[in-house]
Amino acid sequence: KYAQSAQSGPLRDRISYNGKHQLLSVDQFTRESVEELFRIADQMQPIARRQKVSRVLEGAVLGNLFFEASTRTRVSFGAAFCRLGGSVCDTTGFTFSSMAKGESIYDTSRVMSGYVDALVIRHPERGSVAEFADATNIPVINGGDGAGEHPSQALLDLYTILTEFSRLGKLLDGAHIAMVGDLKYGRTVHSLIKLLALYRDLKFTLVAPKGLEMPDYILEQAGKRGHVIEQTSSLEQGLVGADVVYATRVQKERFADEQLEGYTADFQVNKAIVDRCGRSDAIIMHPLPRDSREGAHDLGVDLNHDPRLAIFRQADNGIPVRMAIFAVLLGVEGLVQHSLRDV
Ligand code: CP
Repeated sequence: KYAQSAQSGPLRDRISYNGKHQLLSVDQFTRESVEELFRIADQMQPIARRQKVSRVLEGAVLGNLFFEASTRTRVSFGAAFCRLGGSVCDTTGFTFSSMAKGESIYDTSRVMSGYVDALVIRHPERGSVAEFADATNIPVINGGDGAGEHPSQALLDLYTILTEFSRLGKLLDGAHIAMVGDLKYGRTVHSLIKLLALYRDLKFTLVAPKGLEMPDYILEQAGKRGHVIEQTSSLEQGLVGADVVYATRVQKERFADEQLEGYTADFQVNKAIVDRCGRSDAIIMHPLPRDSREGAHDLGVDLNHDPRLAIFRQADNGIPVRMAIFAVLLGVEGLVQHSLRDV
């Protein structure tokens, strides 16, 4: 499933951020290092499914600081840490943090690093998680910083694509990836396109309504690696030939002065359009949550029983991938195999 790696030295040193064992951006990875992380994620699968037990993080404490809504990222990071024998302390929202009393990011980070062994942080401002990381030497993981990045989501997305392609007998090199929806504010696609760009000869079709296109700085970074990047506002056109269809939610909460009029049901990935224009062996992904409210148009529930829909397999992959991230950043990945015992 993965290419051979010729890299040497601990993975956590090779993916470090400013010399620290922290994960802020997918820019920290090469193709070799990301695939090394995925080999560790594969080893985590029996523990993630509770077929085996490991306590390599026994006694360690994770601080989950989430200043924005989350279900998957917060719970799966917490569950991943617990599956390796550690414990988790959570703070959710500004209201229940002393930042509501005016405490700075610097002070919060310094204080928390005296209490816990690693931090996962989600914050509405782009660049804010890097501020937390700069203030401490403990592992800090970016759980989403505004419209910036969501590196662990992109890692589990890429892991899902490689796993699904392996099942289908396909290679990622040369594949066609369609990304659909709010590509301006969707941080998962910002991280994912950069990570996918580590592969060879990809074609990206970016399907977005006017005003919600992928930012130029990300297009330039992916474009430098020689991939074909096409932009369109036609979903039908975007789906034709795509091996991966990655739908996203409209991030209304991040809108400045954008209007939603341009975003209509024409952008919904649903069974009718996938059957009409999509490949029979396409995989359909979404970082979730999908918006199920009246008038929302990201991903139709009529695909729920379609085998091409990979969204729940994708969400499940959050556990082994996040276990691998912790094991690497905390330097215990070499101990996991020896620590395994039966349930
Ligand atoms: N995909 C994702 O980040 O989901 P949550 O917002 O529920 O964490």
